[in-house]
Amino acid sequence: MPADDTRTPNAPTRRSATILQVEEVGKRFGGLQALSDVSFTVQRGQIKAVIGPNGAGKTTLFNCIAGNLAPTAGKITFAGQRIDGRPAHEIARLGLARTFQNIKLFSGMSAVETVMVGRHPQTKAGFLPCLCRLPWTRREWRLSHKRALELLDLVEIADHAEKEATSLAFGQQRAVELARALATEPDLLLLDEPAAGLNMYETAELGRLIRKIRDQGVTILLVEHDMSLVMEVSDEITVLNFGQKIADDAPSAIQNHPEVIAIYLGEDDAQGT
Ligand SMILES: Nc1ncnc2c1ncn2[C@@H]1O[C@H](COP(=O)(O)OP(=O)(O)OP(=O)(O)O)[C@@H](O)[C@H]1O
Ligand SMILES: [Mg+2]
Repeated sequence: MPADDTRTPNAPTRRSATILQVEEVGKRFGGLQALSDVSFTVQRGQIKAVIGPNGAGKTTLFNCIAGNLAPTAGKITFAGQRIDGRPAHEIARLGLARTFQNIKLFSGMSAVETVMVGRHPQTKAGFLPCLCRLPWTRREWRLSHKRALELLDLVEIADHAEKEATSLAFGQQRAVELARALATEPDLLLLDEPAAGLNMYETAELGRLIRKIRDQGVTILLVEHDMSLVMEVSDEITVLNFGQKIADDAPSAIQNHPEVIAIYLGEDDAQGT
């Protein structure tokens, strides 16, 4: 972060470099401890990845951060505010957006309409009156439509804006999802396995898009199994196994971390190094 000596007297107070702080978070489902004592931070402007084997607790962690689940222990602070246990819509309003592990697009809606749905917390009118184009919402509708087109352009599918979202190629549907999440103008974007189902070419394109979105000022927390993508885009990586954090470091250190190699990349690799 730059020093703030150059701020004018009227400039807003400098924001903390830490956008998300997860402290000793636990989540229990009946007899199953899905997360225990997980702590890490995300700095503004970072791309941070959370990796780990199937069932390690990655999606549960995202659900606790985004307010889809309440953690059973610990504390989560986003942009200086305590958010654990708060409902998802409140957390979204604070500037946090997410995509889901499985694509969730509505059929019968064009790509641009899908992105406008994502935008509705930003509008006074809400989405349905806008869709009906009541006179008092027309200006808001035009602004939403313009911004949705800009976001589709950002994710490089503006040419498909009027096509039905569910009719697009899988990689393009992922891009629509990204644009829809960005429509809430988030400071922090949580992506749960964005490369799932994509081919190598589409995954490389996605990596480029993720960096492009970060360069627009959006901090990114990413759950991903595709290691080439994770290693290429991440500034830092947190590793979970059986709900516990076993490492939190730069990609180069994670690649050489014996416990990570053992649990994630396989025992054979660990013995071979
Ligand atoms: N709502 C739930 N109720 C009960 N158990 C759950 C629930 N959600 C997740 N679990 C369990 O918690 C553990 C962690 O699941 P989670 O989905 O967070 O893993 P993950 O790391 O995202 O796995 P994957 O890589 O397969 O997506 C698993 O044992 C799972 O079965
Ligand atoms: Mg998951």
